[in-house]
Amino acid sequence: METVRIGEFGRHVGAEVRVQGWLHNKRSSGKLQFLIVRDGSGFAQAVMAKAAVPEAAWGAGERAGQESAIALTGKVKEDKRAPGGFEIDVTGLELCQEVHDYPITPKEHGPAFLLENRHLWLRSQRQHAILRVRHAVVKAVRDYLDDNGYTLVDTPIFTPAACEGTTTLFGVDYFDEGQAYLTQSGQLYNEATAAAHGKVYCFGPTFRAEKSKTRRHLTEFWMVEPEIAWAHLEDALKLAEGLVCHVVQYVLDKRREELKVLERDTARLEKVKAPFPWLHYDDAIKLIQSKGSQTAWGSDFGGTDETVIAEAYETPVIVHRFPAAIKAFYMEPDPENPVYSLSADILAPEGYGEIVGGGERMSSYDGLVQRLREHELPESAFQWYLDLRKYGSVPHAGFGMGIERVVTWLCGIEHLRETIAFPRMLYRIYP
Ligand code: 4AD
Ligand code: MG
Repeated sequence: METVRIGEFGRHVGAEVRVQGWLHNKRSSGKLQFLIVRDGSGFAQAVMAKAAVPEAAWGAGERAGQESAIALTGKVKEDKRAPGGFEIDVTGLELCQEVHDYPITPKEHGPAFLLENRHLWLRSQRQHAILRVRHAVVKAVRDYLDDNGYTLVDTPIFTPAACEGTTTLFGVDYFDEGQAYLTQSGQLYNEATAAAHGKVYCFGPTFRAEKSKTRRHLTEFWMVEPEIAWAHLEDALKLAEGLVCHVVQYVLDKRREELKVLERDTARLEKVKAPFPWLHYDDAIKLIQSKGSQTAWGSDFGGTDETVIAEAYETPVIVHRFPAAIKAFYMEPDPENPVYSLSADILAPEGYGEIVGGGERMSSYDGLVQRLREHELPESAFQWYLDLRKYGSVPHAGFGMGIERVVTWLCGIEHLRETIAFPRMLYRIYP
């Protein structure tokens, strides 16, 4: 008999198949047992009639507790009302490991307990759905960039210098070379590879020693970072806009079931269409102040400010030209007024905050040396980066999109910590 995955039941309607999985839940009504089985590809209800199976199979079903490992045989039936759309009429059941004390029961548990048991929590239907959305987001990102002529070039995780400010660096002892850091962003290296390949991206884990406990911050998160040579701020944001729209559409197409499990209102996601509005930093400040924010000109936005700005629009919004003083050292100044930088963030709708941050890079050698000094960064560590301004410097721009931020938004969930298998946060590194 063929062993099939629940997710492939559609191709086996009417056939007797074997399913290997775990017992998610069960109930019984005397002569019938209803076993909810999950096998990683989906959840299905298996109906076992006492009269239809050997005694041993019936007994195994009675003994099996939640998360017991089971293998069953049965006939696949289409049933529109069943979760997943199929049911299986059991003909045999084998109990491979009998479990009785699974810690996560269908009752409500607090977040601390669930995080402590993250290795098991991952099996729940909701967590399963979230990680499937994440996978779709990652695939959509890769497809979009690959199909638009971008070359994937992975950048290092051990780095000798800061990219996004020195206050959020994780230090590592690096043999005789002394202090190294876990990367905050692959951008600086991407600027080198962009001069080699024209259009590149890196996609990997990045690290921030941020002492923030907000629901939007992880200490380890995944970021996709495209970088484009011969490009300006507008070009980078055009790409970001196209990328965001593609990712949203792909998830709506491929992860309907998962979004349903998450009870996501997809109407808001359907409205994510280009072009996204552009809002100058000054106007963003005016907007939030008119709604009672205490944030002054020259400061970065708080989480609440971002929500207020986003609420003014249906689609994501591009906030541009942040004051140079609050942005990273590498930002190109606005030629019309160097108080501003050629930078932009994309804020997601519905209060999910910044999903994209990027801009145009300083292309002048002298300008960059001056910036390194202003930011008290060690010039020696940036010699190679300065070289890029010596040998064929061109306007170039790019951005970083945080995968967990995007997944949180698309899933419509509260906290970033559920969007990565094993979240790393200020107070958590176990499991
Ligand atoms: O705005 P950020 O810090 O930009 C950079 O790192 C640039 N070097 C990127 C580039 O231009 N290549 O980070 C980019 C994005 C943010 O918009 C956010 O989505 C995400 O990364 N991000 C975080 N996600 C989770 N936890 C954190 N602590 C994050 N910090 C930033
Ligand atoms: Mg940012």
